Amino acid sequence: MLLETDGAGYAYQPGRWALRGITARFEPGTMTGIIGPNGSGKSTLLRLLASIRTPSEGAIRLNGKRLREHKSDALARSIAFMPQTVTPVCAYSCEETVALGRYPHLGAMGFLTQNDLKQIREAMLQTDTLEFAERPLDDLSGGERQRVLLASVLAQQAEFLLLDEPTSALDLHHQHEVMTLLRQFSRNGQCVIVVAHDLNLAAQFCDRLLLLSAGRLEAAGAAEEVLTAERLSPVYGGQIAVLEHPLTRQPLITVLSKKTYE
Ligand SMILES: Nc1ncnc2c1ncn2[C@@H]1O[C@H](COP(=O)(O)OP(=O)(O)OP(=O)(O)O)[C@@H](O)[C@H]1O
Ligand SMILES: [Mg+2]
Repeated sequence: MLLETDGAGYAYQPGRWALRGITARFEPGTMTGIIGPNGSGKSTLLRLLASIRTPSEGAIRLNGKRLREHKSDALARSIAFMPQTVTPVCAYSCEETVALGRYPHLGAMGFLTQNDLKQIREAMLQTDTLEFAERPLDDLSGGERQRVLLASVLAQQAEFLLLDEPTSALDLHHQHEVMTLLRQFSRNGQCVIVVAHDLNLAAQFCDRLLLLSAGRLEAAGAAEEVLTAERLSPVYGGQIAVLEHPLTRQPLITVLSKKTYE
C-alpha cells in the first residue's frame, strides 16, 4: 500500500493556486505531520489525498493508480478522512455518528453485524467517548464532539488515516492520548497523516514532518531537520527559538516576543 503525490497542485479558482508542486510518499507504518501557517495549504493537501478534491495539476496515486480510477467503495475502505470542521447535519446520537464510520463495510442489506458493533465499541473506548453513546452529538462540548468524530474515523478501519487538526479542541491529557493512539496505529501498520498546529506535539509523535508555506513544500524530513529557527522564523514570521527538550532531547519550539529576550 502506498499513497503518493506527484507534483500535485490545486487552484480553487483558475490561476489562484492554493497548493503547487507537492511530491511526497506516505507509507504504511509511518506517522506524518503536516505543519505550516494558516492558509499554507494543509487542508487542501489533505482534501486531495482523501479524494475530496481532484488535483488541478499533477497526480495523487494509491498503489500506482490515480485515486479517481479506484472504485469509491474500495477507496472508502482504504482512506479515512476527518475534516477540520464538521457541521452536524441532523440530530444523530454519538453512537450513530460513530456507526457511520462502518458504512463502507456494510453488506448489501446495510445491517450492522456483530463485528461492526464490536468495532464501534472499540473506537469509542479508545477515544474515551463510550459515556456519550446515547447523547445527541450536538449537545457535546467542542472537544468531546471532536473525540466522537475521531471515533467514527477509527471505526472505519482504513489503512490510511487522514486527520485535519484532530486535537485542536482537546485538553492536554486528551491531546496526548489521541496522539499516542495514532502513533500506536502507525506502529501496527496503518499510515497516519495528521495536520497539526502544535509543533511540539507534532515533533514528539510524528516520524516525519512536511512543512508547507504559501502552498509550497518548504521542507520534509525528521523533526530535527525541519524544525530549525532559520527555517521556521521566515515561514511563520516573528522570532522563533528552537530549544532542546531537557528530558526527551526533542526540539522545543517557542515564539520570542521582544519582551521575552530583552
Ligand atoms: N473552498 C475554498 N474556496 C476558495 N479558496 C479556498 C477554499 N478553501 C481554502 N481556500 C484558500 O486556499 C488556501 C489554502 O487553504 P487551506 O484551507 O488549505 O489552508 P490551511 O493550511 O489548512 O490553513 P488553516 O491552518 O487556517 O486551517 C488559502 O489561501 C485559502 O483561503
Ligand atoms: Mg486547515
